[in-house]
Amino acid sequence: MAASQLLLLSLLCTLFVHQCHAACAEVDSDTEAVAGKGFKLGCVSCKLRSEVESTCVIEWFFRPKGEVDFVHIYTYSSGVASIENEEFIDRVDWNGSRMSNDIQDGSIYVLNITFNDTGTYRCYFNRVLIYPNHEYINIVSKLVHLNVVAKATRGTASIVSEVMMYVTIIGLQVWLLIEMIYCYRKISAAGEEALREAA
Ligand SMILES: *[C@@H]1O[C@H](CO)[C@@H](O)[C@H](O)[C@H]1NC(C)=O
Ligand SMILES: *[C@@H]1O[C@H](CO)[C@@H](O)[C@H](O)[C@H]1NC(C)=O
Ligand SMILES: *[C@@H]1O[C@H](CO)[C@@H](O)[C@H](O)[C@H]1NC(C)=O
Repeated sequence: MAASQLLLLSLLCTLFVHQCHAACAEVDSDTEAVAGKGFKLGCVSCKLRSEVESTCVIEWFFRPKGEVDFVHIYTYSSGVASIENEEFIDRVDWNGSRMSNDIQDGSIYVLNITFNDTGTYRCYFNRVLIYPNHEYINIVSKLVHLNVVAKATRGTASIVSEVMMYVTIIGLQVWLLIEMIYCYRKISAAGEEALREAA
């Protein structure tokens, strides 16, 4: 009985985990990089027709702050990456989907960020959906506005939540202390009363 329940439970778990992995979420990229560090330029485009086979080529373009035109910096096609701009030579690693022609995550990782990397990045998903009788081309593009800072700044939200955490912890401890004093007084009063009655 117990064994079969365990088996069922682990089966359900496996199914659940599987579903989680299969799910694709179009999370927005971070937009603040720290100079001298690496930065992941995120770009996710979920494929809506998961049952249809497809291939996908990813391209990244960059428009430095104050410039008008985008320059081509990176291409990823059939597992092969090529860096198209000398400013980015040896500085870009693939951070997207692996082992698949059917890319949903086209993120790249830029090493040694400099202030010159400030600007707008655009990624393109050039997806070809392969149907039995025809092919359908679907192009999706996304923008990332990157700001480079000397030191990481913390979002106000995270500071507020940390302060709230301390307030809560201290509040709970004070409450516990008051409760203990109250209980102690009550117990000792009851004890004295009992002694008086016994006398
Ligand atoms: C992205 O690439 C960088 C550099 O190769 C690596 O250190 C990092 O672990 C990668 N991250 C992911 C999520 O693949
Ligand atoms: C990136 O920075 C590291 C440490 O400062 C350095 O060793 C490396 O050569 C740099 N790489 C590039 C491509 O500039
Ligand atoms: C940033 O760009 C300026 C002007 O193009 C160039 O002189 C400088 O060397 C660049 N700095 C870095 C760290 O690449």
